[in-house]
Amino acid sequence: MIAKPITDFGDRPVPVASVEARSSASGTPDDRASGRQRDMKLFAAAYPQAMVVRYSVRPARAEDAEAMSVIYNEGIADRATLETEPRTPAERRSWLAARDARHPVVVVESDGVVVGWASLNIFNARDAYRHVADISVYVARNSRGRGAGTMLLQRLVELGRELGFHKLVLAGFPTNAASVALYGRLGFREVGVYREQGLLDGRWVDVLLMERLL
Ligand SMILES: CC(C)(COP(=O)(O)OP(=O)(O)OC[C@H]1O[C@@H](n2cnc3c(N)ncnc32)[C@H](O)[C@@H]1OP(=O)(O)O)[C@@H](O)C(=O)NCCC(=O)NCCS
Repeated sequence: MIAKPITDFGDRPVPVASVEARSSASGTPDDRASGRQRDMKLFAAAYPQAMVVRYSVRPARAEDAEAMSVIYNEGIADRATLETEPRTPAERRSWLAARDARHPVVVVESDGVVVGWASLNIFNARDAYRHVADISVYVARNSRGRGAGTMLLQRLVELGRELGFHKLVLAGFPTNAASVALYGRLGFREVGVYREQGLLDGRWVDVLLMERLL
């Protein structure tokens, strides 16, 4: 495939080669995500002058708490979650410190700046549910739509397998197009919709449950 200049895809600029790869995607979700990264490398090689975002994912540290709280608060303000309580750096630091080894938090960096975070969370404390992890993924507003969420979710899938989980699950909004697309691309299936599950800003909202067996 020949890489072409950046075009517009919805409200976010992406390389044409990458758009074409997505629309004709086949293979496993992991293959498709790797294919996207290959496309981005091809594009970078063909257009070195274009802005190419490089990400790296690593375990979260206490000093990431401030960036994580800012990113989480953007998601809360954007009503991407039923959570409505804004977070502080101190609260995120305590939250990080309380994590156990089976429930890690990772951040994604671009040029040394944290632009997103994700976590494996306890789904249910009952022992029979120990092989199921709930997940969270949040990307900074000004970094969305450039692959950071994909990098984070791929890492959660890897970590889930390494840690012996059998399944990842999440609860999101069916109206959150970016999250439904992100999870769908990475092989999550829609389990069902709780109708009018939450009361947000005085309105009932539906909640979409999704899962991926590992
Ligand atoms: C949802 C979220 C994590 C996605 O992360 P992201 O970095 O923006 O996503 P990516 O750039 O990796 O794109 C992943 C897929 O989502 C889709 N997507 C991204 N932005 C989109 C948008 N604005 N509209 C529709 N689809 C979109 C694309 O199909 C893309 O797949 P592709 O490889 O086929 O292009 C991010 O938008 C976010 O943090 N939103 C606010 C918080 C939130 O909603 N968290 C999830 C709660 S369940």
